Amino acid sequence: MERKLYHVMGAKQFSRPELEELFEAAQAMEEVVRAGGSRKYEGRIMTTLFFEASTRTRLSFESAMTRLGGSVIGTENAAQFSSAIKGETLEDTIRIVTGYSDIIVMRHTEIGAAKRAAAVAGVPVINAGDGAGEHPTQALLDAYTIQKEFGRIDGLRIAMVGDLAYGRTVHSLSYILANYSDVSIYYISPDNVRIPESVKRYMDSKGIRYKETADLNAVAGEIDVLYQTRIQKERFTSLEEYEKASGKYIVDLELMDRLNKNAIVMHPLPRAGEITEEVDRDPRAAYFRQAVNGLYIRMALIDKCLS
Ligand code: CP
Repeated sequence: MERKLYHVMGAKQFSRPELEELFEAAQAMEEVVRAGGSRKYEGRIMTTLFFEASTRTRLSFESAMTRLGGSVIGTENAAQFSSAIKGETLEDTIRIVTGYSDIIVMRHTEIGAAKRAAAVAGVPVINAGDGAGEHPTQALLDAYTIQKEFGRIDGLRIAMVGDLAYGRTVHSLSYILANYSDVSIYYISPDNVRIPESVKRYMDSKGIRYKETADLNAVAGEIDVLYQTRIQKERFTSLEEYEKASGKYIVDLELMDRLNKNAIVMHPLPRAGEITEEVDRDPRAAYFRQAVNGLYIRMALIDKCLS
């Protein structure tokens, strides 16, 4: 009987037991890296197809596959350097790449593109970000980071700040957090980039407490995690709308003084001025540790998809 392919499409697909299993696997991958890597996937090939720019996601997936003994082929600019530019459909590209590799990691500009790819792929597909839709592997590494930093996720108060409308990482992180007990979420954003109704409806359906506000200073002393995000200029349809949203929330030393001594600051990165560099020296700045955790989570995901 043919084995059903395991795809990573969105954060809602993960249950609490699956998250716990994945975090244990990621912790084991930390040991694998410390031991110099593994040959487990020697002879297996990953294709990375990135139709949108990336530093962390693409390179950590490529590092993850390499550290597991596998090889990587692909293009960091699939929009320009794949035959998409000649008019090839996404479906045809995926059908072709299926013949060359054992797993596909894809980032695309369009919401739902990963599902279109998975529908025709003969190998597992991992959604590395689909437009303003979701970024499930980022949310998994975010939750893993919170778990590592606090030893738990249950009961924490988490503020998501910035571009909550187009910010796919906050959509996916919300869905992951909905698996945990007694979490409180603060959605803090300019008025024109508020958290989408669809995300709020999902959180309501899971009985998760959340509050929307524009006032970060007022809640800074109440939170355990400040999850800052970039206002994504490239997603706005007009400069005027972007300017209405930009520059409103800056994490600087003054804001750090308002946070609890055990709170942490996270950011999916890249940043574009919304966390000042002087904050990097504060041990509560967790965003570079967070980025490293992406390697371990992605090694664990590759292992889950290929084993
Ligand atoms: N966090 C994140 O997705 O970063 P990249 O765009 O650099 O991959």
